[in-house]
Amino acid sequence: MMRVGKMINSRAFGILSISTKSHNYSTSNLNYSTISNHKTSSELGIMVEAKIAPSMLSSDFANLASEAERMLTFGADWLHMDIMDGHFVPNLTIGAPVIESLRKHTKAYLDCHLMVTNPLDYVDQFGKAGASGFTFHVEVSKDNWPELVKQIKSKGMRPGVALKPGTPIEEVFPLLEGEHPVEMVLVMTVEPGFGGQKFMPDMMNKVRTLREKYPTLDIEVDGGLGPSTIDAAAAAGANCIVAGSSVFGAPEPAQVISLLRTSVNKAQKTC
Ligand code: DX5
Ligand code: ZN
Repeated sequence: MMRVGKMINSRAFGILSISTKSHNYSTSNLNYSTISNHKTSSELGIMVEAKIAPSMLSSDFANLASEAERMLTFGADWLHMDIMDGHFVPNLTIGAPVIESLRKHTKAYLDCHLMVTNPLDYVDQFGKAGASGFTFHVEVSKDNWPELVKQIKSKGMRPGVALKPGTPIEEVFPLLEGEHPVEMVLVMTVEPGFGGQKFMPDMMNKVRTLREKYPTLDIEVDGGLGPSTIDAAAAAGANCIVAGSSVFGAPEPAQVISLLRTSVNKAQKTC
């Protein structure tokens, strides 16, 4: 058991009761879905489950459905979908219509990372499209995050908040408290905008701080994760691992996915 004796955030602890063995979260009033044949956190004797989320930004977008299926067959828990508006970040990717199309082909948990200036404008369409998680950036949501989180939940999605490398971790603390807290924090380990960048080890201080304060929170890391960087992220306490180029570029992606999972589970057990 990890950090026994520490204060447990009861709200976050509730997440653990969600079964990830089936396609639907049983305790959810929402439409989250995921595919996983792996053991649950309680079966493993750990506080947080590993969620391995290949970033579809590195996939062949012309064959998105089969790429998604391929990753799930290789053992992915979630599919990470990078939504970029060409304004918040200097790149343009996909929007709700693509999520809607993909949703027709898979029941998987679609972990949507919105790198957009006006996330509130997209909640409704992403909800209708079938997004599972809706993670917005704190840098553009300081004034309206309570409303944003409320809306995300009301549309059947799971709210998460992301922060860029230059943003202090303290800025997400208020979003983890109160009536409508976020249920995941995404710590960017590269500047958002592009795949294939170098992992920033300094960001692990943020992950450690967060894990100390919230033992059961889903903490996601995104950018430059792969076999050579996973141990640092796992040791700091990250449990949701986004990996684009290291998975899609591997001769055997299943091996990389398995290695990422093993590292997280091992670190959780030794904490
Ligand atoms: C970057 C995106 C990432 C990206 C990660 O802005 O948020 O999800 O796809 O790619 P890798 O794993 O190649 O760094
Ligand atoms: Zn991302």
